[in-house]
Amino acid sequence: MFRHYVIAALTALALPGSAQAALPEPSLRNGLAPTPPMGWSSWNQFGDQINEQLLVQRMDAMAADGLRDAGYVYINLDDGWQRHKGTRKDHPLEVDPVKFPHGLRWLADYAHGHGFKLGIYSGPGQTTCAGYTGSEGHEAEDAKQFAAWGVDHLKYDSCCSHKDAPKTEVQAIVKKMALALRASGRPIVYHACHCGWADIWQWAADAGANHWRIGQDISDDFDYPGHREKYYFDVLDMLDRGITLGQHAGPGHWNDFDMLIVGLNGKSQELVGAGASNVEYRTHFSLWALAASPLLIGADVRSLDAYTLETLSNQEVIALNQDPLGQPAEKVRDDGSLQVYAKGLANGSVAVALLNRGSATAEMTVSPGKDLGEAWKHYRVRDLWRHAELGEFDIPFTTEVISHEARVLLLTPVTGHPPTDTPK
Ligand code: GLA
Repeated sequence: MFRHYVIAALTALALPGSAQAALPEPSLRNGLAPTPPMGWSSWNQFGDQINEQLLVQRMDAMAADGLRDAGYVYINLDDGWQRHKGTRKDHPLEVDPVKFPHGLRWLADYAHGHGFKLGIYSGPGQTTCAGYTGSEGHEAEDAKQFAAWGVDHLKYDSCCSHKDAPKTEVQAIVKKMALALRASGRPIVYHACHCGWADIWQWAADAGANHWRIGQDISDDFDYPGHREKYYFDVLDMLDRGITLGQHAGPGHWNDFDMLIVGLNGKSQELVGAGASNVEYRTHFSLWALAASPLLIGADVRSLDAYTLETLSNQEVIALNQDPLGQPAEKVRDDGSLQVYAKGLANGSVAVALLNRGSATAEMTVSPGKDLGEAWKHYRVRDLWRHAELGEFDIPFTTEVISHEARVLLLTPVTGHPPTDTPK
């Protein structure tokens, strides 16, 4: 069940000669991001209201509260660091000297000196989504500049400038920047952000991208009826779109379900949405982790409450996201509002999320044989939110799941003779 992506890839390589007649273009894969990037991005909470002090304070907070050591090392400036609004024809691309008085080399040095990496944002148009100068016509020069500043990650956003552009044009602009980054000589993780259009998951890895958005912008909602303002995707919209695309992701190239909304609580200065409950934010985090999406915190890390910090810091759930096999979760059972997701891990265990999308508590079951295709006689179950062993079983595992909760379980085969427990 969980190995079929690999088998599909090997089959593709073994096509008979005639099917290989047209040689594929050389891949631009850069070997970076073997596991999904983790960090913090300025956009979801602050929009373009960012500055040097704000960034420094967030890094200091993440170093002090353990988030950096939990793996969140990319500190990504999103739109709004640039000096000028308006087209590139009319303005150079420069850092805003009022917002960033010491400049970006200084900020990158600060990040590196404190165990972080620095990310930056631009786009292939004359202007970016928020109306600042873009990189069009200056890709090589900008990539060199980012490298000279010591940047480690680039979000290159074509959502606004190339919204309705044909796929070939989008491919060309993504590749152009990939080549420019390569020529810069600095390893820079590359996010080609195209809001889930132009079937980007099918080709972006070979165009040099390390991750790409699978949907439009996230809203701060778990399950908003329809799409807010006929555009935004809530958590369940994003999940339903992205979970079908797992075969396109793996080490070095990831489906990006968008930045996390955990902890925004409807108070973002930028995002639409009314916020979600603690349980819903935890479910969102769990599913992004299992889907092997980048985990970029969007909330203000200076003012997280204890529950939110616990959600974002769960090392057992983060380990699923960062598992070296890099296999995204699949939906293995769908009984309407009760769904089971599973992610195969490098050590042979399987991580499972029992998701209750309904409005009442429900009993949910996972069967290693029927749902996971595993021929295990006995298996062990660990609950990764309660940090508790639930026992050893030789029958399907059943438990209660409250409304909008995802119970995250680790199932591990047991060899030798184990006792049989009843589910807790
Ligand atoms: C687009 C992207 C967002 C953000 C903004 C910045 O909407 O999808 O993630 O980067 O642009 O303007």
